[in-house]
Amino acid sequence: QTADSLYVINNFAQKFFTEQLLHTDNGKAIALSYLRERGFRDTVIDKFQLGYNPDTKDTLTKALLANQFNAELLPKTGLVSVRNNNELVDNYRGRIIFPIHNISGKIIGFGARIIGKNDHAPKYINTPENELYVKSKILYGSYFARMAIDKADECLLVEGYTDVISLHQAGIENVVASGGTSLTTDQLRLIKKYTNNLTIIYDGDNAGVKAALRGLDMALEEGLDVRLVLIPDNEDPDSYVNKVGAKAFNEFVAAAKKDFIIFQLEVMLREAGGDVTKKSNVVNQVAETLSRINRVEDFTKQQDYIRQCAGILRIDENGLTTLVNKYKR
Ligand code: UTP
Ligand code: MN
Ligand code: MN
Ligand code: MN
Ligand code: MN
Repeated sequence: QTADSLYVINNFAQKFFTEQLLHTDNGKAIALSYLRERGFRDTVIDKFQLGYNPDTKDTLTKALLANQFNAELLPKTGLVSVRNNNELVDNYRGRIIFPIHNISGKIIGFGARIIGKNDHAPKYINTPENELYVKSKILYGSYFARMAIDKADECLLVEGYTDVISLHQAGIENVVASGGTSLTTDQLRLIKKYTNNLTIIYDGDNAGVKAALRGLDMALEEGLDVRLVLIPDNEDPDSYVNKVGAKAFNEFVAAAKKDFIIFQLEVMLREAGGDVTKKSNVVNQVAETLSRINRVEDFTKQQDYIRQCAGILRIDENGLTTLVNKYKR
């Protein structure tokens, strides 16, 4: 009931935002020019239904009210916020709008990006949790990616909206975004409906590496084969593909793709250096991680990892197997 109404409101808002972006003077001068300067072409601006909320108090709010939408429901959508005096005003003023579609293409919410830089406001505002927008279950771009994921038998996972869009523009369509948050089990299960092969391509900053590693244990428990690519420092997939082009980006990803467990092991080993205690901690951590591959059908995979990890650690394979089994329960 409420969900249906929210869909209708979101749909209306998307059309409003797109109209503002493409067919108003301010939209063109402020927002469309920004998107074009970033390298987005009309094809992806159309495909992803990008838009603009003008920098005025309540242009959208008024349009919504004029169309008889339930005023009580409006704040739920995040499009509108309530001021102290119960006045309704636009929430995404002066921002670029990224509609977020569910797997069947219906709009469940929006990401709204500030134009340019501003230290006093958040870069993105997103729809608050409601009947449609359940953050832990959303993969941005899934609707546009599902056929390509199926075809490639691989899903690329990036952090942000603009990463998804720029990769599409470069012809790489099997890509979804986690929205900057750490990966959830629900998101992984969604991916697993389409493929077993997950390649995480996160930003090349510390936060990106940390977030990527956090996803590992969960992904293994879901039985996914996870690979990891780190984009070189201070770039993200969007900026990098725009810098080097589609061909070089693809080549980089193919060459940099590392098996997740091996990546984690190498990071930890580097940190441990020559320290014997630290190295033994690494062995234990790897064993713990490997023990999470606990589904019967993944047994061969686990054996294979144990062999590789033992090799890298220069320890006995049987010893590592015993340790792994100790962590199982
Ligand atoms: P990033 O900070 O990497 O932004 O956050 P981005 O995607 O590269 O965006 P551009 O290129 O600067 O425009 C990654 C993702 O984290 C979420 C968004 O989903 C964003 O795409 N995020 C980030 C927020 O929700 N709020 C924020 O304030 C920042
Ligand atoms: Mn980006
Ligand atoms: Mn980032
Ligand atoms: Mn970016
Ligand atoms: Mn980024």
